[in-house]
Amino acid sequence: SSGMITIDPGFKNTGSCESAITFLDGEKGILRYRGYSIEELAEKAEFLEVAYLLIFGELPNQEQLANFHKDIKAESHVDEEMKKILDGFPKSAHPMGVLSSLTSALIAFNPASVNVSSEKEMYGAIVRILAKFPVLVAWTLRKKKGLPLDYGDDNLGYVENIHKMMFKKPNQEYKSNKLVIEALDKLLILHADHEQNCSTSTVRIVGSSHAGLFASLSAGISALWGPLHGGANQAVLEMLEAIEKDGGDTKKYMAKAKDKNDPFRLMGFGHRVYKNFDPRAKIIKKAADDVLGDMGIDDPILEIAKGLEKEALEDQYFVDRKLYPNVDFYSGIIYRALGIPTEMFTVMFALGRLPGWIAQWREMRLKNEPIGRPRQVYIGENARAFVAVEKRK
Ligand code: SDX
Repeated sequence: SSGMITIDPGFKNTGSCESAITFLDGEKGILRYRGYSIEELAEKAEFLEVAYLLIFGELPNQEQLANFHKDIKAESHVDEEMKKILDGFPKSAHPMGVLSSLTSALIAFNPASVNVSSEKEMYGAIVRILAKFPVLVAWTLRKKKGLPLDYGDDNLGYVENIHKMMFKKPNQEYKSNKLVIEALDKLLILHADHEQNCSTSTVRIVGSSHAGLFASLSAGISALWGPLHGGANQAVLEMLEAIEKDGGDTKKYMAKAKDKNDPFRLMGFGHRVYKNFDPRAKIIKKAADDVLGDMGIDDPILEIAKGLEKEALEDQYFVDRKLYPNVDFYSGIIYRALGIPTEMFTVMFALGRLPGWIAQWREMRLKNEPIGRPRQVYIGENARAFVAVEKRK
């Protein structure tokens, strides 16, 4: 097409779509799902309720929520053949790679979820993935720990059942812990959507070719894996553990983070949109205090994190660049307290983000958005003639 093409690296100044799902204001640190504040939802709602809200646009009444959960429970089996794919991975495999592969493999066992175009067909695919994805998440943890896979229990709540599949010890009665389930539920709500972030943009662009929901989600999981995005929650804990090993020398890591020749960044800090505190980080920081306090856990890593935050908030380099803690800075400390291994942190982010990815994919498909296909500015060689191999210098 004619006219100037302007390049916008990382789409820092490009809007990809109009959306009615999530509103965030980076200056004021505001985050709302379908108009409801994240503070209220984290405090008063359940994760499954928030999933319904994000996907269908309204908070469900009791009957709608009960039917939604019933429809999900009806789809909670994962084909036994899928275990062959899980078994094929070495124990050392990163859970995010296993999860994106298993999510893509689900397509082969759920053909009805591929070419969905009507709202009814979409609903079928949505409840199927909301039912099966948590099973795959639990599988990645059981594999990592060398534990037998555990089947869900339809009598439990949605998040409670996920916790059971992840943590029920073989030949022991599963005892659910209200405090743990509430902490997990809150964390998942806080991760549920975040407008056009890297992984959501990936889900939208793959979905825009009508590749189907599961294929789009598998691509989104891969995008989330990166340490600059969801992978940061794992990188934060690795950084805090390195600082602890270094005798708590936060100054050394602050210097590294500011050194242009050093690729190291202060993980869990900074954000493309938030130029103030990430509202989720505030809630998670308080939740970390509450959960560790209630569980009687005195984790030195939490103190190191707080010390690092304090230093960074007073450091000119960070102040000038408006770098604040983001959603990933404290979340790992709670996951650790809940017994979730560091390598599984980004899988927990994916579990939380699942409803947001689904909501954004559904909105994109219902609006019949065109296939995503940006242009470029060519800066390569001009036209030139082929030279036979024997004639090349
Ligand atoms: C998530 O987009 C979303 O909404 C994502 C997310 C979601 O819910 O989906 O919120 C989840 O991904 C949170 C972010 C997790 N990532 C990290 O914590 C990794 C560390 N953070 C950075 O890599 C960075 O802040 C990003 C990736 C989050 C944002 O990068 P930008 O917007 O491209 O900013 P930039 O790289 O252009 O940085 C601007 C300046 C640069 O310095 P100058 O070149 O201007 O001198 O700030 C510096 C950067 O070097 N900087 C940092 C820094 N982050 C930015 N310096 C040290 N440590 C950091 N963490």
